Amino acid sequence: MDAKKAILNRRTIHFFENKKVSENIIKDSIEAANQAPCHRFTFPWRFYSVSLKKRIQILDLAIDIKSKKKQIDENAENIIKEKYLNPSHLLITSQILNKEPAIQKEDYAACSCAIQNLCISLASDGVFSKWSTGAITKNPKTYEIIGLNAKIEEIIGFIWIGYGKNLPKITRPLIDQIYKEI
Ligand SMILES: Cc1cc2nc3c(=O)[nH]c(=O)nc-3n(C[C@H](O)[C@H](O)[C@H](O)COP(=O)(O)O)c2cc1C
Repeated sequence: MDAKKAILNRRTIHFFENKKVSENIIKDSIEAANQAPCHRFTFPWRFYSVSLKKRIQILDLAIDIKSKKKQIDENAENIIKEKYLNPSHLLITSQILNKEPAIQKEDYAACSCAIQNLCISLASDGVFSKWSTGAITKNPKTYEIIGLNAKIEEIIGFIWIGYGKNLPKITRPLIDQIYKEI
């Protein structure tokens, strides 16, 4: 598949089928991520493929966080379970934290490029993804579960990967609104 087609095929999905993606497809996507540009050769991106055991621990934590905000019934709990357990892979992406804030900003840009490369590579293999952030990606217990030191690296997203259901149609801004010849 050519690059443009894969870019157009990449779509965030929210509902995954319970079907495995091959490790070769995942490894290819990591290789694509690792080709992202970065300033000063910092290569600040890290990807952790989360085992089922750890994913269940993260799921329990997510249910705990949600039920502290509001009471959740069995149906809501099942939706969270499906969200955490259905996707084929969960890649936790982190950014190695540079001491200088200006470099941290550039490194976040580089990590974003890496994640986008990863998602486009997956899309070229007919695989969908979702970059998610929120209370769970920031919680100190998540760092504990996956054994990360928050002083050294920061979780910048959970990347859910798998085959998809219900592809959303996203209306994008018109080119006239985002591009001008000046
Ligand atoms: C930094 C970042 C964080 C995101 N966090 C979430 C999230 O927490 N939950 C979610 O449903 N989507 C999240 N998304 C996905 C966007 O909502 C999604 O890209 C948007 O709906 C556009 O859809 P598309 O990716 O198919 O173009 C995130 C995307 C980015 C780049």
